[in-house]
Amino acid sequence: MSLDFGPAVALSCRECGARYPLGPSFACQECFGPLEAAYDFGDVTRAEIESGPANIWRYRSLLPVPSDVASKPNMNPGWTKLVKAGNLGRALGIKSLYVKDDSGNPTHSFKDRVVAMAVEAARNFGFHTLSCSSTGNLAGAVTAAAARAGLDACVFIPANLEQAKITMARVFGGRLIGIDGTYDEVNRFCSELIGDPMGDKWGFVNVNLRPYYAEGSKTLAYEIAEQLGWRLPEQIIIPIASGSQLTKIDKGFKELIKLGLVEDTPYKVFGAQAAGCSPVSTAYKAGHDVVQPVKPDTIAKSLAIGNPADGPYVLDIARRTGGGVEDVTDAEIVAAMKLLASTEGIFAETAGGVTVGVLKKLTESGVLDPEAETVVLNTGDGLKTLDVLGGESVQPTAVIKPSLDAFRATV
Ligand SMILES: Cc1ncc(COP(=O)(O)O)c(C=O)c1O
Ligand SMILES: [Zn+2]
Repeated sequence: MSLDFGPAVALSCRECGARYPLGPSFACQECFGPLEAAYDFGDVTRAEIESGPANIWRYRSLLPVPSDVASKPNMNPGWTKLVKAGNLGRALGIKSLYVKDDSGNPTHSFKDRVVAMAVEAARNFGFHTLSCSSTGNLAGAVTAAAARAGLDACVFIPANLEQAKITMARVFGGRLIGIDGTYDEVNRFCSELIGDPMGDKWGFVNVNLRPYYAEGSKTLAYEIAEQLGWRLPEQIIIPIASGSQLTKIDKGFKELIKLGLVEDTPYKVFGAQAAGCSPVSTAYKAGHDVVQPVKPDTIAKSLAIGNPADGPYVLDIARRTGGGVEDVTDAEIVAAMKLLASTEGIFAETAGGVTVGVLKKLTESGVLDPEAETVVLNTGDGLKTLDVLGGESVQPTAVIKPSLDAFRATV
């Protein structure tokens, strides 16, 4: 099999550094540590990147994809807006605030970025079926990308997800299997399926293709830096489910520094969780290096991973950069969704309520520096989690007869 993963040359163990040839493997044979893509970057210039397409493929020379990737049928995600959030900043007392709004991706979440990497890996390995374990957004991103790439799809979710996420995953075709259990149980089931003849030639994007898939999150780091004028932000708030997005954004910033594409300035990374599924923030606050698994109970279902694979790496990054990890209650999540919507016109899903809620909490408690340039991530679209909004906000302000008198009487 002749593989083309562009600048990626090997898989390396994140624990012991052992190196392996590029393949559909995800755990180290020496120490069972997780594997990730390792690169041999050539000269990468700002000019070359800037002349690329307005999607993630402008960064193809930093990703595990072939150089002609942009010409293949794929979803072309990325290059989403970095919104200067002056109104939200004023409401919270933060001088320079930006929202990186990934709800603008093709299937309305950041998952299109990671799935685009997995599709290339599936093509390379000759897999005919694209699969995943999902908390909802990934299911939609996988079924859509499989449809466009001409692959079969079969994805697995906890059966109790939001209706909009189920509908989205179904409409693109393929099979959507609801499992009576938590995300962690769904994920374990998918790992069993890989070892079974039934799962032969299946690319599980977040299991046997994980080292490639996870690299897609680096594009968030590249875009934020480029959109800031080739600078790193001073503070960034990132949601945590498995923790992979956070660790890869840090990897992306470090690569930009190493390649001389940005100046080596300090940045603090803050992780955000829902209180009903906060194993990483609990470990962070207790000063532990080990993340104790929990059973999730929160409206932020997209972040409801009780046993986050990248948890310990998140703790390292938060501590190394001088950042932190915090959590917010379900009521704070909904309030933050409304605050972001009413100040910036951005309708975030619950995950965005988690990051904005943590932004508010850490600003009020003085942990975040209000003078520092700050980026907060919104990773998904509020139309996918309408179910959490209730009360008067789901009704018209008033229902009146179409007459001026009636309107005068209401206002
Ligand atoms: C909307 C949204 N934001 C953030 C995340 C967190 O991703 P990660 O598992 O990389 O921490 C997810 C994961 O499913 C998600 O759906
Ligand atoms: Zn190892």
